Amino acid sequence: MKLVLVGTGYVGLVSGSCFAEFGYDVTCVDKDKSRILELKKGKCPFFEPGIEELLSKHRDQTKLLSFTSSLPEAMEGADIIFITVGTPSKRLEEDADLSAVWNVAKDIANNIKKYSLVVTKSTVPVGTTKEIKKIISKIVPKENFDVVSNPEFLREGSAINDFMRPDRIIIGADNEKSTKIMKELYRPLYLLETPIITSSIESSEIIKYASNSFLATKISFINQVADLCESVGADVQEVAKGMGVDKRIGSKFLNAGPGFGGSCFPKDVKAFTSSAKKQNINFSILEAVNSYNQNRPLEISKKIINLKKYNKNSKLALFGLSFKPNTDDIRDSTSLKIAQHLFDQGIMINCYDPVSNDNTMDLFPKFNFFKNAYEASEGADAIIIGTEWNEFRALNFLKLKSLMKNLVIFDLRNIYNKQELSDLGFEYYGIGK
Ligand code: UGA
Repeated sequence: MKLVLVGTGYVGLVSGSCFAEFGYDVTCVDKDKSRILELKKGKCPFFEPGIEELLSKHRDQTKLLSFTSSLPEAMEGADIIFITVGTPSKRLEEDADLSAVWNVAKDIANNIKKYSLVVTKSTVPVGTTKEIKKIISKIVPKENFDVVSNPEFLREGSAINDFMRPDRIIIGADNEKSTKIMKELYRPLYLLETPIITSSIESSEIIKYASNSFLATKISFINQVADLCESVGADVQEVAKGMGVDKRIGSKFLNAGPGFGGSCFPKDVKAFTSSAKKQNINFSILEAVNSYNQNRPLEISKKIINLKKYNKNSKLALFGLSFKPNTDDIRDSTSLKIAQHLFDQGIMINCYDPVSNDNTMDLFPKFNFFKNAYEASEGADAIIIGTEWNEFRALNFLKLKSLMKNLVIFDLRNIYNKQELSDLGFEYYGIGK
């Protein structure tokens, strides 16, 4: 089977390299010529554990993976074409910006020569895949193509494993022929007993948004429980543990923290609310999730300032800048939002991230950047753990003690134990404790 993926972001490159691992002939296309040039040289545009090895294996050894900026060239003999372009939020609006999707659909239509399956893997609002079908049918006879919705559920930081061992595959199709081709495509996963769920195209599109929005709701819920725990002297980790063993609730995504960030949850919650609004449905739960989450970084920074009366003369060390560990993605990073609020009050920010210092420097040039956590802590009035990278889980507190001006820790990811740090002489503040 010959596959084409249009768009070389996380979804395009991870899916492309994993499909090559299954043994398919894969071409990744992007109109960004410099990005394609870098990929041909073996450079991945983002940090993701394992991706460079997989890309180079299939580019250089198996030769199953190639890159091009020419869609006509890529589509020569292609059986399945995946749309994997970004669908960010529109500026100042809740809606997803689908301009890249529409352009790609037109380009694909202009290059279909034999029967092809066009698959939306990008996260797109309900109705989009049918709209793509309309666009293509203006140019291509209906017997020469079908459209399918096949959303992706991989997470940044564990993307390859998520793709190779997913909880489920969703195939939204409107006929038997396309469902059959998609089932054949995912046969390697079916052999691992991955549930393959077929549905209508509309249900499939909604499954993706409803899943992300539900997880985001779970996070905001536990964060509000954390607020209550803080006020009454309970511990949100104990509460989450007690809730999570109930199989109907489940223990995942019950980690209280500074709020959800990244390139997916914040935009998807907004776009899903907007889809509902267009049908005159008031998705008030999601509106609350969104507004609470948007406010949370400001509320946390206020709490930090008020607790210790930090001011223009204060210096805080920030550990972790990416929106989660194992990625250099800083889009909608709550750690950085909190740092910006603190900086706006005149507080000096000394920061360190294992892989995101360079990305952050361009956007936050007034922060100070350091090569490791210890250098960032020199003379600091407190440490803020903003992202739970593994290397922050076993810090040398004796060394930190000798470097810091004041021994205070704000652990926004609850990775330490209050008693243990108090015994070491630190004043410890977690979330919801
Ligand atoms: C999310 C979904 O988990 C993926 O299934 C989906 O494919 C992806 O969006 C997407 O739509 O492309 P991702 O944004 O990469 O994946 O990362 P998550 O691990 O879901 O974390 C999202 C945010 O929630 C992070 O800011 C994280 O710190 C926060 N979070 C997560 C919590 O605050 N608490 C938790 O218990 C879990």
